[in-house]
Amino acid sequence: MIIKALAIYGSPRKGGNTDLLLNETVKGMKEAGAQVDEIFLREMKFSPCLELYACENDGRCAIKDDMEKVYPKLIEMDCLALASPIFFYAVSAHTKAFIDRCQCFWTGKYLLKKPIAGGKKRKGVFIAVGGSKGQKIFDGPLLTIKYLFDVLDCELFKTLLYREIDRKGDILNHPTALSDAYLLGKELIASLP
Ligand SMILES: Cc1cc2nc3c(=O)[nH]c(=O)nc-3n(C[C@H](O)[C@H](O)[C@H](O)COP(=O)(O)O)c2cc1C
Repeated sequence: MIIKALAIYGSPRKGGNTDLLLNETVKGMKEAGAQVDEIFLREMKFSPCLELYACENDGRCAIKDDMEKVYPKLIEMDCLALASPIFFYAVSAHTKAFIDRCQCFWTGKYLLKKPIAGGKKRKGVFIAVGGSKGQKIFDGPLLTIKYLFDVLDCELFKTLLYREIDRKGDILNHPTALSDAYLLGKELIASLP
């Protein structure tokens, strides 16, 4: 059976550090035999959550925009790789808008008792990069990702987190980051049942 992987790029900067890392993870996932669908949030036209609460009726988001194409992929995926830069001790605005638009899956799981993929458990990884040395830069984002993954019925398999990576391409000078990201993709696929 084909393994369906979803890779979500959360940075506004094309070819930036998280793009470079997630590219490697995608390579690893493909190498391990997965079919990978890549989503670039910066290329999508989509609204943040508008608190319409229409999802409380049927678990579906009422907003008509590019997220409509992403929802079926989130339902069908076997695994997820999500990458975001750290902006003000949080994930990027693109990533946060995407996460908030997953509120319909929270409603499905907890209010309507209809989990996203019929209760099927998936696995995912989170990749993040920050420019500073700050010890706490990943604390907030990791909490956010933990709760996103819970809603997506996705076990947080591993994270790759790098500090002091700021200018475009800085990650290329890191001694292990690119190979770590590649191996992460391979390991994620190998870990699936
Ligand atoms: C709006 C903005 C806010 C940022 N805030 C932080 C921060 O709070 N902590 C930090 O370590 N780096 C911060 N950075 C630096 C980015 O995380 C860093 O440049 C990162 O390498 C960008 O990744 P990318 O190339 O994938 O977009 C910020 C950058 C921008 C543009």
